[in-house]
Amino acid sequence: MSDSEKPLATETPLYGLIAEYDNPTALVHAARKVRDAGFRRWDTYTPFPIHGIEKDMGIRMTRLPWLVLGFALTGMAVATYFQYWTNSVDYRWIISGKPFWSWPANVPIIFEMTILFSAFAAIGGMLFLNNLPLPAHPLDLKERFRRVTDDKFFLVIEASDPKFDERDTRGLLAATNPVVLDDVLEDRVTSDRIPAPLIYTLVILGAVSLIPFAFIAKARAAKTTEGRVHVVWDMDFTPAYKAQEGNPLFGDQRSMRTPPEGTVALGQLHDDEHLYTGKVGDEWASSFPESLALSEATMERGKQQFGIYCTPCHGQLGDGNGIVHQRASKLKQGWVPPSDLHQTYIKEQPAGQIFGAITNGVRNMPAYGPQISAEDRWAIVLYLRALQKSQSASVNDLTDAERAQLQ
Ligand code: HEC
Repeated sequence: MSDSEKPLATETPLYGLIAEYDNPTALVHAARKVRDAGFRRWDTYTPFPIHGIEKDMGIRMTRLPWLVLGFALTGMAVATYFQYWTNSVDYRWIISGKPFWSWPANVPIIFEMTILFSAFAAIGGMLFLNNLPLPAHPLDLKERFRRVTDDKFFLVIEASDPKFDERDTRGLLAATNPVVLDDVLEDRVTSDRIPAPLIYTLVILGAVSLIPFAFIAKARAAKTTEGRVHVVWDMDFTPAYKAQEGNPLFGDQRSMRTPPEGTVALGQLHDDEHLYTGKVGDEWASSFPESLALSEATMERGKQQFGIYCTPCHGQLGDGNGIVHQRASKLKQGWVPPSDLHQTYIKEQPAGQIFGAITNGVRNMPAYGPQISAEDRWAIVLYLRALQKSQSASVNDLTDAERAQLQ
């Protein structure tokens, strides 16, 4: 009885037929025959890559790139939509006068999400399309097959192939002159249960990974008199004194030292009363300080500073309808609205008084003296004057040439 006619030794079903070859050339020739016979569920196994064998096997290009492309576009769309929705639908907020939505600011996240989705698709898709992970395979039981990592070449046709016919297929393989032609039986020996140590490890890791969440939940629910857990100590605990803190080193116990009597820090003389207080004598100054250049550049500066510091409340037009006002008046009862800066009494205020309002605040409006330099505060007053004029300008304010343009 020849090797190929031997009946199956057990009732274990046939997984497929395995043919063994001595060299890559024989394998490639066999592969072409099997490919031409129209088989689909078969594979070749070699100790090293044989370039071009995919053509001899009739393997088509993988679908993975399409999968990756699909996920990449999804990632792109998700990032774009999420940022669009948060920034310009759900929580519109002016940041330094930038538009709510514009491409450039959002490109980095869109890029990152595209890459992230692609990477997951590439890894996950590869595993899925390759049927991995595969803990056991019938070929693992074949003693001879182990030499596939050494010096032998194999071709296996699976019995599940629609073209598979035990007799014909055996004949086809025999015609390719294999060194050995053998049956591969289904694996009924290896347990397909997940090994216990692996299960224990996963359970332990899973439990450990919950610990941070437990800490977070505890921190949110419980009150404590102790400080937070400090992972980074650096700047939270320096020996430096805070501004108003007591300091036993000095007789007066202050950590903030006053300058010695009669001294002035460099650049802080501030002896120009008009420039720094907005007053001349006891009265608000009605003019701008002499050191301020009433130039186009100062006007531009004033416009820019007004845009930064005043528009959130008073609005671009100075009519009191800034974004803070719009939002606060919806959220808060009894909100004192920012003044409309075009009211007659404000227009009639001396320049120094407006300077004073910016410097020290007025009633409910906070002081901006500490944040804006004196020169810039005056520049703002200058711009405010222009703004006031612009909102109630008449034809008579135009030059003859400008009037001519209107007609
Ligand atoms: C945080 C919001 C806010 C900002 C920012 C703000 N203001 Fe005001 N401003 C107010 C409010 C509120 C009032 C009215 C206060 C009141 O009547 O109690 C007011 C009133 C004023 C008045 C009228 C003062 C008066 O005598 O009645 C002037 C002038 C003014 N602001 C100028 C400015 C300028 C210039 C800036 C930019 C440097 C500025 N404000 C920034 C909220 C603001």
